[in-house]
Amino acid sequence: MKFFIDTANLEEIKKAASLGVIDGVTTNPSLVAREGDVDFHTRIKEICELVDGPVSAEVISLKAEGMIEEARELAKLADNVAVKIPMTEEGLKAVKALENEGINTNVTLVFSANQALLAAKAGATFISPFVGRLDDRAHEGMKLIDEINTILENYGLDSEIITASIRSPRHVKEAALIGADIATIPFGVVQKMSKHPLTDIGIQRFLDDWESTKE
Ligand code: E4P
Repeated sequence: MKFFIDTANLEEIKKAASLGVIDGVTTNPSLVAREGDVDFHTRIKEICELVDGPVSAEVISLKAEGMIEEARELAKLADNVAVKIPMTEEGLKAVKALENEGINTNVTLVFSANQALLAAKAGATFISPFVGRLDDRAHEGMKLIDEINTILENYGLDSEIITASIRSPRHVKEAALIGADIATIPFGVVQKMSKHPLTDIGIQRFLDDWESTKE
């Protein structure tokens, strides 16, 4: 399973990369806005220099033509840019056109299996179902990951599933058990994944026992 870090913050990306477990980055307009007064293209370029894997950058246009123009500009920033396209009819048209141009896409804001099936058929490189936002509305986000995983396998469709809108380590574990290709994870959740109270207790006990041999 690949891990992407879900942030536009350079320090978080550096820290996550230093752990040796990060295969890419996803951003969205809200995450970029959280960074304050940064130039979007400059920030995407900076992120692309920090990681070798795919870096998702989202378009703002709602019409296919505008999305395609934005995507071409984003793709010029670095070889590892994947252009995030919203899951709409216009988005599907853009995905097909961009696939023909060899530009990688990440179809975002996916909330149903049929949306994912359409995105895969249009030629999306990545598909991002949002589990946390479904859970927030009392749906079962992880059930959607399972359904999409089965559908893509049934038909040998090439798109990779990015489990997105992750809120907890439990989401990551469940996505891994299902066999989702990728989880895009906020840095705070990566940190929580590395911790267990018994690990801390165990380290302290080893240190105490080691010290006691010197008494
Ligand atoms: C990543 O590609 C998504 O944009 C992100 O995971 C959405 O997360 P949120 O639902 O916490 O905003």
